[in-house]
Amino acid sequence: MDTFEELNRKGFVDERIDPTIDLFEEIERLKKEKNAIVLAHYYQEPDIQDVADYIGDSLGLSQEAAKTEADVIVFAGVHFMAETAKILSPEKTVLLPDLKAGCSLADSCPPHLFKLFKAKHPDHVVITYVNCSAELKALSDIVCTSTNAVQIVESLPKDTKIIFGPDKNLGAWVAKKTGRDLVLWNGACMVHEIFSREKVTKLKERHPGAKFIAHPECEDAVLELADYIGSTTGLLKYTINSDAREFIVATESGIIHQMEKANPGKTFIPAPPNNNCACNECPYMKRNTLEKLYLTLKNGLPEVTVPADIIIRARKPIERMLEISASLGL
Ligand code: 13P
Ligand code: SF4
Repeated sequence: MDTFEELNRKGFVDERIDPTIDLFEEIERLKKEKNAIVLAHYYQEPDIQDVADYIGDSLGLSQEAAKTEADVIVFAGVHFMAETAKILSPEKTVLLPDLKAGCSLADSCPPHLFKLFKAKHPDHVVITYVNCSAELKALSDIVCTSTNAVQIVESLPKDTKIIFGPDKNLGAWVAKKTGRDLVLWNGACMVHEIFSREKVTKLKERHPGAKFIAHPECEDAVLELADYIGSTTGLLKYTINSDAREFIVATESGIIHQMEKANPGKTFIPAPPNNNCACNECPYMKRNTLEKLYLTLKNGLPEVTVPADIIIRARKPIERMLEISASLGL
């Protein structure tokens, strides 16, 4: 077994698993033994979604992390999500099956550069999308997710000057929806930027009855074609409430597992990327596997930690988001 330092360098527990054990049963047993809860994002592989105690979008996951009574949170998602859980529940142990499950969007906004950007706009309120590092959250006034970004901006007086980061596509969509003039950081998600307007247009022509639904991290040229735009939970709810039988889905393809489960008989077509790769799978989300999740629960490693001073500063803008969301019933 590797030392803690070696494991951290590697990012996950690398141990042979007895091939005769039933991982699903073992995970259930370990959850009870350790008073652990598994929180999973919709972009996780189907097996992980099926062992999760809660599956949700970024807002739902942070609300769940804030209220759980479990001693251990196994976060089946990416690093910034596990950090948010740790900030909200610092007394709990937060585990991530693979510490290298990062995020291209979070990486597109290094805190030292954001500090300089902020200094150029000293009289602005800073709203950051939850897809960023804990350090960046500590530099913010309010955090938001794709579920509540519009309402968070609208909760501020109309003449408030606002910096919005790190996602320029979500920021541009929020600016359009609210009529506010936001100062945007130039960041983006590699998965949502890859969808092709031309290919989606052709696909819509071949499936005239299909609804085209998209996540607001997509570029404006793609969003313009959408029948519905929303967070992952919003997209899932739309497929349940719609009478349509076919949907073209422009977000990470992991969400289709829940869409199919909730909508027997309806068809879900992943929106095509602008090349031939499977780029609508997030390579960071997909670093977590059922095997790594099992080893994480068994060994209590790897653990996500956040420095105490960052926890104190990052907690305020996250709690502000949770308060505004709760007051609006989100
Ligand atoms: P939501 O969970 O808010 O829909 O965001 C999607 C995403 O990109 C998470 O990484
Ligand atoms: Fe980050 Fe995009 Fe992956 Fe979400 S889908 S974790 S925003 S890279």
